[in-house]
Amino acid sequence: MRLSASELSRFGEEIGARLTAPAVIGLSGELGTGKTTLVQAICRGLGARSRATSPTYALVHHYAAGATPVYHVDCYRLRQPDEARDLGFDDMIRDRAVILIEWPERAGSWAPALDRHFQLSYDADPARRVLEEAA
Ligand SMILES: Nc1ncnc2c1ncn2[C@@H]1O[C@H](COP(=O)(O)OP(=O)(O)OP(=O)(O)O)[C@@H](O)[C@H]1O
Ligand SMILES: [Mg+2]
Repeated sequence: MRLSASELSRFGEEIGARLTAPAVIGLSGELGTGKTTLVQAICRGLGARSRATSPTYALVHHYAAGATPVYHVDCYRLRQPDEARDLGFDDMIRDRAVILIEWPERAGSWAPALDRHFQLSYDADPARRVLEEAA
């Protein structure tokens, strides 16, 4: 799909509205392709109260949608997959949370199994992004 920013947001809101915990969603794609935009939209659809801003200092941000814990994990800054060992994925899984992971491939085998995996890339049109779902 080739989506404008508002279309990508609407898509994410629909994903979030239909999501039932526990769920693990991966978001991959080059810098600036819209991973955080999609995370924020999914959180809105979930009804999570806080905005999921792009983590600058912390790799893990914790939100809540009613009784459901929601985690936004950005693995971009991991220098090696082993550093993901301390991110707390086991606890998040135990909490039956919704886990949204940017750059899951950087966590290697430390990343939990993904229920869905979205790939974003640039389009020739600078206002659009290509969204694909990995099988
Ligand atoms: N169709 C589109 N979908 C999403 N974002 C778009 C689109 N067109 C333009 N943009 C712009 O691209 C940027 C996407 O930024 P965003 O932080 O969501 O990307 P990101 O993949 O999380 O980047 P990073 O890897 O740096 O964390 C925003 O500035 C947004 O306004
Ligand atoms: Mg981001």
